[in-house]
Amino acid sequence: MFDFLTTNPALALLKKDHDTVKDLFDKFEKVEGRPAKKKIVNQALEELKVHAAIEEEIFYPAVRKSVGNNIMNEADEEHHVAKVLIAELAGMDGREDHYDAKFKVLAENVRHHIKEEENEVFPKAKDAGIDFEALSKAMVQRKHTLLARGVPPAAEDAMVAASHGKGDSPAHAARKTKPRAAKSHAGR
Ligand SMILES: [Fe+2]
Ligand SMILES: [Fe+2]
Repeated sequence: MFDFLTTNPALALLKKDHDTVKDLFDKFEKVEGRPAKKKIVNQALEELKVHAAIEEEIFYPAVRKSVGNNIMNEADEEHHVAKVLIAELAGMDGREDHYDAKFKVLAENVRHHIKEEENEVFPKAKDAGIDFEALSKAMVQRKHTLLARGVPPAAEDAMVAASHGKGDSPAHAARKTKPRAAKSHAGR
């Protein structure tokens, strides 16, 4: 493991969050029963929302210049995709047939994102020449506020709400529709 993941206070804080969500992803695979699975999903969604917020509000802007736009833009897009899945899962009650699949895909995406942060973003960020002690304090403070007051709605929440979906998969919905060819043939 890179030393800076434990010695740099800001990076260590983010790494700890990463380990917490990865543990929840592992637990989800092991538990049985709807209530237990749903509880883990809700914990993971809360952790991810708070973590994404402190990165987007404080960490990403502070390190963007030294990490570079290409890597940071990719990180932004990975957050966006995760937030769409988070918004969909938050609107589900846990009994839908795509619930587990959606959470597993979220977990796979987040695991990939964590790898890129720890292997590409953090090594470059550590040389940003900024006050990491102050950055870490700001993130801890913001984290406490978000945990106490809740995370403000993301743009992706409105996007998912506007789709009026039930968090189900578009591919699944498509299976219920007759193929175009069959429809036109039937109409003749
Ligand atoms: Fe992260
Ligand atoms: Fe991130």
